[in-house]
Amino acid sequence: MAGYAVQMPKRVVFGEGMEEKIGAEAKGLGAKKALIVTDEIIEKTGLLDKVERPLKEVVEVAIFDKVEPEPTLEAAETVAKAARAAKYDLIVGVGGGSVMDMAKVASAAASNPEQSVSDFMGANKIANPSVPKILVPTTAGTGAEATPFTLIVVETKKKAIASPYNLADVVLISPSLTATMPAKVTASTGVDALSHAIEAFLSLGSNPLTDSFALEAIRKIADNLEEAFLHGDNLEARLKMSLAAMLAGMAFGNAGVIAGHAAAHTFGAKYKIPHGISAAVALPYIMEYNAPAAKEKLAKVAREMGEDISGLTEEEAASKAVARVKNMLKKLELPTRLADLDVPENALPELAEAMSKEKGYLARNPRKIEHDGAVEILQRMWSG
Ligand SMILES: [Fe+2]
Repeated sequence: MAGYAVQMPKRVVFGEGMEEKIGAEAKGLGAKKALIVTDEIIEKTGLLDKVERPLKEVVEVAIFDKVEPEPTLEAAETVAKAARAAKYDLIVGVGGGSVMDMAKVASAAASNPEQSVSDFMGANKIANPSVPKILVPTTAGTGAEATPFTLIVVETKKKAIASPYNLADVVLISPSLTATMPAKVTASTGVDALSHAIEAFLSLGSNPLTDSFALEAIRKIADNLEEAFLHGDNLEARLKMSLAAMLAGMAFGNAGVIAGHAAAHTFGAKYKIPHGISAAVALPYIMEYNAPAAKEKLAKVAREMGEDISGLTEEEAASKAVARVKNMLKKLELPTRLADLDVPENALPELAEAMSKEKGYLARNPRKIEHDGAVEILQRMWSG
């Protein structure tokens, strides 16, 4: 049997009200001077204060609140500069996926003054271990709190920094911090988490441990996302979504995501579509395309999502999984095709060209995809 290895954050502190423990966590890391990386919305909604107040009781705190959605290389260099402005020995990221990614950049920049952010791009390029970091997600979706990846928009492409130094020292999850998320964001980030779990489960890089995280995430999202969307104040549903998003992060942080994310990054970066929406639109079509090569796994996805698959062939059960995801997108009032996102049909050949260059994602895809396959998938995605 082939062996496997997994990597994940060093410590996870999970539960309602756990933001109050951040001071003790900072102390545990030996910190004296912390930089909080966040954005202006988190500050305005009062979420920042919930973390900053207990942290301030223990360490000196400075704040960088200029993180923008889908950060560019230039924006990341600004974060790096802020992280080098003083001798910070702790970085705390409070926000959604973009904020957590920029907290990863800040912690690497603080301990690698000789490297620019573009030097970090690629796999294992960060020279020295990052300054310790605590990641506090305020959405339940990206799973960035649990992965060794940072995504940065370079020109119109999403590029990754992959390094074990990007993994958090502490992930601190308190579900009520996600309760202020608008329903629309709850829906798109929640389906992004589902896409991480399903794509990681189908990935050729998966292993028994990532499969167990992925299946548990799929089940929890199927059971709780619609409720969190409809009743945002249901903290039980929020808690399960936070757990699911982190588990999905642990799954794809090791198994990787596949062609759905290759497509989503391609059209998302070009047409400035929020990542959750892009990943959501791509998901059912990527399941459909992969069905001939992954029917057994897709049948398990259907079962995990609560579908009755008794007496069905694997092909039929796989189709049920696809139909269930499409139905979920409709219930969550999300777009279900590229045509709904103002992507022009005549842009598809160019997008297919770009998608087929996303070799890392495509190499893990269970069914082979070359240029023609990318055209077929995008055409299906466009017309629905
Ligand atoms: Fe994603």
